[in-house]
Amino acid sequence: MREEIRFLLGHEPRVVRGLDPTMTVLDYLRQEEKLVGTKEGCNEGDCGACTVVRVRPRDGRLHYEALNACIQFLPTLDGCQLLTVEHLGGPDGNLHPVQQAMVDCHGSQCGFCTPGFVMSLFAMSRDFEAAPSDSEIDDALAGNLCRCTGYAPIARAARRLYDSDPRRDHIAARAPETQEALVALRDHVTLAFGRGARRFFAPATLDALADLVTAHPEATIVAGSTDVGLWVTKALQRLGTVIWLGRVDELARVEEREGAVEIGAGASYADAADALARHYPDMGEVIRRLGSVQIRNLGTIGGNIANGSPIGDSPPLLIAAGATLHLRQGGSRRSLPLEDFFLDYGKQDRQPGEFVEKVVVPLPPSGSAFRAYKISKRFDQDISAVLGAFQLGFDGARITEARVAYGGMAATPKRASAVEACLVGADWDEATVERAMAALDQDFAPITDWRASAGYRLQVAKNLLRRLYIETSDPATETRLVGDRSLAHA
Ligand SMILES: Cc1cc2nc3c(=O)[nH]c(=O)nc-3n(C[C@H](O)[C@H](O)[C@H](O)COP(=O)(O)OP(=O)(O)OC[C@H]3O[C@@H](n4cnc5c(N)ncnc54)[C@H](O)[C@@H]3O)c2cc1C
Ligand code: FES
Ligand code: FES
Repeated sequence: MREEIRFLLGHEPRVVRGLDPTMTVLDYLRQEEKLVGTKEGCNEGDCGACTVVRVRPRDGRLHYEALNACIQFLPTLDGCQLLTVEHLGGPDGNLHPVQQAMVDCHGSQCGFCTPGFVMSLFAMSRDFEAAPSDSEIDDALAGNLCRCTGYAPIARAARRLYDSDPRRDHIAARAPETQEALVALRDHVTLAFGRGARRFFAPATLDALADLVTAHPEATIVAGSTDVGLWVTKALQRLGTVIWLGRVDELARVEEREGAVEIGAGASYADAADALARHYPDMGEVIRRLGSVQIRNLGTIGGNIANGSPIGDSPPLLIAAGATLHLRQGGSRRSLPLEDFFLDYGKQDRQPGEFVEKVVVPLPPSGSAFRAYKISKRFDQDISAVLGAFQLGFDGARITEARVAYGGMAATPKRASAVEACLVGADWDEATVERAMAALDQDFAPITDWRASAGYRLQVAKNLLRRLYIETSDPATETRLVGDRSLAHA
């Protein structure tokens, strides 16, 4: 086992040992490195003030990802390059093109949010060779809050960037050297950081992971830490043994084979979004609105399932698509329909020493219709009050198969069996929709909380069935905010 973390901070190698294993990257930067350009705002992944960029070699090139440093644990930097706002300016003292565009467009007032915006724009510039559209700029900045400048000058700076080539900078010039250094840091030895009861294990193979989870059944498994990070920063928990999935290549895979998309438990939303959206465009739309770029670069579908939250966005989507969950315990494996994994509030069908290995999502049957709708107070970066997902199979006008799943309506993500019974065998018409809407009362008795009242949840869940009917029977009718977002810029 290796006991120290090795990474590049900017272009300088770092070897770290002896620090708290769940110290956040943000605290490390500010307290240990005295790099205070990266700011702490919310400390829970919401405001983007702490945005940094992680660089990893992938498919023969460097991959740049914006992340929230406040909810990322220090050992997850192992084998990566970390770029902060301090690393952007050129060696000659010039501002980076992103910084210059912010100055030129008056994109900063008090400046507290500015390093975060600059890092998000820098990451965006690595993703987009040509100028992004207005809506792509909105998406790239949805995880950054500014309380005083207003977003128009910042969006202008994002466009101004592409007046010249923002990708030609000193960081790109040193990319071959960075790539070589990062490849040299890769090994297949388990990282074991920390001491005694507080250790952070990062195995590098699936078998090593299985052995560690068996040996430490009480350990906290961490994938993207977008939930677990908050247990530390907000609930002030001191985690004991932690086992992180992030170095296991087999779990990061997203593959299409044998009529299904297989998503490893370590694959981030950003990794999985394209493969799912190709076959299920509405899954792509929901994922686009899940958290922010920073959250989607870290968070995983595996973590969203494993935490069993009744308001997680991906379980209803995947249940409606007929997904299967695959679990592993030591050398043995089992699988089950995803809906059977959720037993009760906070209770999942997972044994001590067992972990989620992958979720397998069958491709949609030909002629079927899949729709999913996320209802939340804000369009971007908000938790759902209700999420409805629907897959219908047809023989002419007759419904032959119905999978209907909701989040936010019960103690777990759940299928609406009374609605499904009402749909299967019926013709897809106004009378059937009315009956299905009424049947929803038998499936759910939602609660009132600060996101929505019980009455609102029930009504909106019924209305989604009507929207499904309108969209599938009269596609010309406008039902979506998505696609009309350009109106926001009119
Ligand atoms: C700002 C912000 C916005 C968010 N927005 C949304 C949103 O819009 N929609 C939404 O659904 N969620 C949202 N979340 C919640 C979170 O991002 C998701 O639940 C995410 O999918 C969790 O994945 P993770 O990899 O980060 O999980 P982690 O935090 O690493 O783990 C979550 C839980 O799963 C367990 N776990 C993880 N992987 C495994 C595994 N392979 N086997 C067994 N157990 C495992 C962990 O022990 C823990 O209990 C948001 C969070 C933040 C901070
Ligand atoms: S401090 Fe707000 S997202 Fe990290
Ligand atoms: S410039 Fe003050 S918060 Fe954005």
